[in-house]
Amino acid sequence: MAQLKESKILVTGGAGFIGYHLCKKLTSLTPYVTIYDNLSSGKLENVKDVPKAKFVKGDILNLKQLCNQEKADLIFHLAAQVVVPYSMENPTEDFETAQRYNREERKQVPKSFYSIHLRHIPYSLPQIRI
Ligand SMILES: NC(=O)c1ccc[n+]([C@@H]2O[C@H](COP(=O)([O-])OP(=O)(O)OC[C@H]3O[C@@H](n4cnc5c(N)ncnc54)[C@H](O)[C@@H]3O)[C@@H](O)[C@H]2O)c1
Repeated sequence: MAQLKESKILVTGGAGFIGYHLCKKLTSLTPYVTIYDNLSSGKLENVKDVPKAKFVKGDILNLKQLCNQEKADLIFHLAAQVVVPYSMENPTEDFETAQRYNREERKQVPKSFYSIHLRHIPYSLPQIRI
């Protein structure tokens, strides 16, 4: 984990269940952790409980805001609407979001998000134990 020291890490969905625990661990390894979350299901208390992380309230579909974030060495992408019954009751909402992301934003993601913000992926997930 010494390799993570000084690494800049962006965690989308960092205010959620998994993101919170991940960010707690990551902030013990590097001082440069940014949580990017729209708080749709995530909790501000989670963010406050990880005071060493920088918090940005934002939506992953807002590419302009996303791409204005500081360049990261490593990105954990956890932001998602995860409630299955909600998807069953509102199928078009998740479908349209997924379509929009896949058809429009995703085309730009390799150019604007990953290439600008992600320098390299030096570690695989199993190496991050939480
Ligand atoms: N919890 C599990 O057991 C489990 C198992 C397998 C996979 N996963 C996956 O892990 C990821 C995180 O799951 P979780 O349980 O922590 O869910 P969660 O709902 O607690 O966290 C998701 C976070 O994403 C944020 N978010 C949602 N839409 C967003 C958007 N458009 N822009 C920015 N932020 C947004 C929410 O506010 C929330 O903080 C999901 O992709 C989920 O499918 C979870």
